[in-house]
Amino acid sequence: MKNTPLTIFKKNVRYLLIVMLVITFAACTSANSNTAALQAKVNSMNLQIAQAYKPGLGEFMSGIQVHHAKLYFAGKNQNWKLADFEMGEIKEAVDDIKKYCTDRPEVKSLSILYPALDSVNNAIKAKSLHSFETSFLFLTNSCNSCHKNTNHEFNVIKAPDTPPFNNQDFKVK
Ligand code: HEC
Repeated sequence: MKNTPLTIFKKNVRYLLIVMLVITFAACTSANSNTAALQAKVNSMNLQIAQAYKPGLGEFMSGIQVHHAKLYFAGKNQNWKLADFEMGEIKEAVDDIKKYCTDRPEVKSLSILYPALDSVNNAIKAKSLHSFETSFLFLTNSCNSCHKNTNHEFNVIKAPDTPPFNNQDFKVK
């Protein structure tokens, strides 16, 4: 057989195939190790997110305490827009507790607040100072019922004597 380019190709075709196989194999292995490295990175980032700082139940409660006090002075001053705003903040904190404090069994008892929250909302809608006063007491009692139910009876909530901050005006402007 003459050594034409075609015969040279035919003779060496098996080597060519072997080289191609080796190249393909190497490429696949490197792609796999890239994927594995990426997966490891994703796993470690997921872990960081899971361990990221989340406020605890006590911190949410301290926030609710502030809004509870502000709500009182807003209602007493018949500042219904501010009272409504403070109610929204309490509702948000309750929702956040449900979302972030899933590890706390006490969260089940949160629903104890709902009738009282509805009652305060109705008083605000009706712009009734009298209903506000009775429903605020109902709310405060509901806070304490849950504290009792969850062995935190020593956290006693009451209507505040003085506004929580002196740099906020609670009167309607
Ligand atoms: C799920 C039932 C529940 C309800 C409803 C509830 N609390 Fe609490 N509260 C708790 C628990 C449990 C703790 C203790 C949290 C902790 O372990 O840090 C607490 C703690 C507190 C604290 C102490 C926070 C601190 O770190 O000093 C305050 C203040 C407080 N609550 C206010 C309120 C107010 C105001 C309301 C009503 C608007 C309310 N809570 C309603 C369960 C409840």
